[in-house]
Amino acid sequence: MTPENSKGHYPPSDDYRKRAFVKSVKDYDTLYNGSLKDPVAYWAKEAEQIDWFSKDWEETFTWNKEENRFTWFKGGKLNVSYNCLDRHVNNGLKNTAAMIFQGENDSDAKVYTYGELLYEVERFANVLKSKGVKKGDRVAVYLPMIPELPITLLACARIGAVHSVVFAGFSSEAVYNRVSDCTPKVLVTSDGSYRAGKKIDMKGKVNEILERDTSVEHVIVVRRTGADVVMEENRDTWWHDDVTKVPLRCEPEVMDAEDPLFLLYTSGTTGKPKGLVHTCGGYITGAYSSYKYVFNYVPGDVYWCTADVGWITGHTYILYGPLAFGATTLLFEGVPNYPENDRFWQVAEKWKVDIFYTAPTAIRMIRKTGDEWIKKHDLSSIKMLASVGEPIDPDVWKWYHGTIGGGRCPIADTWWQTETGSILISPMTGAFDLKPGSAMKPLPGVEAAVYKEDRTRCATGESGNLYIERPFPSLARTVWNDHAKYVETYWTLFPGHYLTGDGAKVDADGDFWLLGRVDDVISVAGHRIGAAEIEAALIAHPAVAEAAVVPIPDEIKGEAIYTFVTLKDGFEESDDLKKQLVNQVRNIVGPIATPKTIQIADGLPKTRSGKIMRRILRKIAGGSKHEELGDTTTLVDPGVIDLLIKGRI
Ligand code: PRX
Repeated sequence: MTPENSKGHYPPSDDYRKRAFVKSVKDYDTLYNGSLKDPVAYWAKEAEQIDWFSKDWEETFTWNKEENRFTWFKGGKLNVSYNCLDRHVNNGLKNTAAMIFQGENDSDAKVYTYGELLYEVERFANVLKSKGVKKGDRVAVYLPMIPELPITLLACARIGAVHSVVFAGFSSEAVYNRVSDCTPKVLVTSDGSYRAGKKIDMKGKVNEILERDTSVEHVIVVRRTGADVVMEENRDTWWHDDVTKVPLRCEPEVMDAEDPLFLLYTSGTTGKPKGLVHTCGGYITGAYSSYKYVFNYVPGDVYWCTADVGWITGHTYILYGPLAFGATTLLFEGVPNYPENDRFWQVAEKWKVDIFYTAPTAIRMIRKTGDEWIKKHDLSSIKMLASVGEPIDPDVWKWYHGTIGGGRCPIADTWWQTETGSILISPMTGAFDLKPGSAMKPLPGVEAAVYKEDRTRCATGESGNLYIERPFPSLARTVWNDHAKYVETYWTLFPGHYLTGDGAKVDADGDFWLLGRVDDVISVAGHRIGAAEIEAALIAHPAVAEAAVVPIPDEIKGEAIYTFVTLKDGFEESDDLKKQLVNQVRNIVGPIATPKTIQIADGLPKTRSGKIMRRILRKIAGGSKHEELGDTTTLVDPGVIDLLIKGRI
């Protein structure tokens, strides 16, 4: 047991410390301070742990501050799929489990050894080649959490194609936007998916998208649910047919460290999602290095990250980080509460999971359903826990520690983003006395700092904007097709410092506390959704004149979506209209963006320049009284406030 100490902190047990890469605060300090004395040399040393075809990079790091372009290890040659597969097969892990697939149905499970996963990846890489996919081409991936998803990504990495995964929970319009932006030649999808016992259509949605003008020439379809689907001749083929027609071996393409590995779209403050570009060398170095320090993986462990591969967490910590490290990673198709509320624990007990990584929203949901579901299972195999996606409340942290971790497992609260590619702030769990609710310290090689609006450093305990000093290897290089957007979003407010968009403060011990987004990005169940994307969906409805979307606190999801809508003349408020608006958002953005509340309003609070004051709407939605709204004198029509408060739902 590792009970709380007199300061309310949680020291690691001696047993756990034995597993850890960094076993004391002193060791962390030496490592960390050393890394910041010469970050470039530090990262070059971390990159040594990756297998390179050639390490002859011209310069480890270059940075053109004017153009906000930087490179890491440029001129170095490698292949990411080689690092995730071949090198382990060559090093005696051929028969070691690389990936355990656990389907939603318990009897539907399969263990892929490193040797077998390589075989599948090589075959599918040849399928992609047979469709004309070449180095640098994009491949769109719209697949549920089935083995073909990681196989597709690794196959792309093998031939140098750039994958762009669209989360399977997104609806047609969101898929269309992402596909039309990155112009893929091939799209990989499935007939459908399973979710909580239901069959969900996927191929139908793809067909709908491809009725519009896109660059997609070929669609490869995995048979998952066996649903009847319409296949278009000369465009659509079945995965299981294609793989029988190609050679079994596929040499890995020699890639430059700075060649793109993948794109991943994330929501920002505008309606258009940004395709962040991650590179081969820097990304895999960051994924490998952070995986090593954060999770303290010991050979033989089973590591389980419950995220979806459709998000960055799944990319880096289901797939690339653990596989580059030679770990056994569990891929789970299901949800926490189906067929019953103990599904996670049944899976953890079945596979004797050692390391468990999930999101606060899942922990809150599980806590709510009652401890008896957990007590039914032997979770003694679990040795460490981790959390990602939003701040974890100290109360929820303690429950996670006590009930899931049996009081013996440390928790790594990991802070990072789609843009950063890998974890940047997280405690060294073998060294630190953990503070519930704090992500604690930056990883080696990462310098984080909190600044005020005027760009002066915040004092201890003072809240401000979180920045990362200098580019680090796994940071996204640009936004696909829109470098100006990249510069404006991340490098303009304080040139030379990467703006995270998060609020934070640092306590007297130098530990970081994350305070959530400071922009118009809403975090629903840990998923980033741009307010503007939802507003655009609402405005597309014929009845809607204007829409403003703000977050409100939600007990389970962290934040929920509250929308204010004004109607065009000739339309009236009704339950039916509200239902239509909810469906409009579900259909265009996806069910994850389902608004919790629609308030039809007569007007919205605006500044003289016409900007909607979301700051005020946030407070109104959250239940504030008029006098708690702060300065409203800059509004064109202050009278609108009382009407909005009166109409609050
Ligand atoms: O606000 C922060 C929050 O999630 C945002 C990044 O979201 P996304 O790019 O979708 O990636 C999620 C998984 C890495 C951040 O800007 N966030 C992520 N982890 C934490 C967090 N907030 C507080 N604590 C965390 N551990």
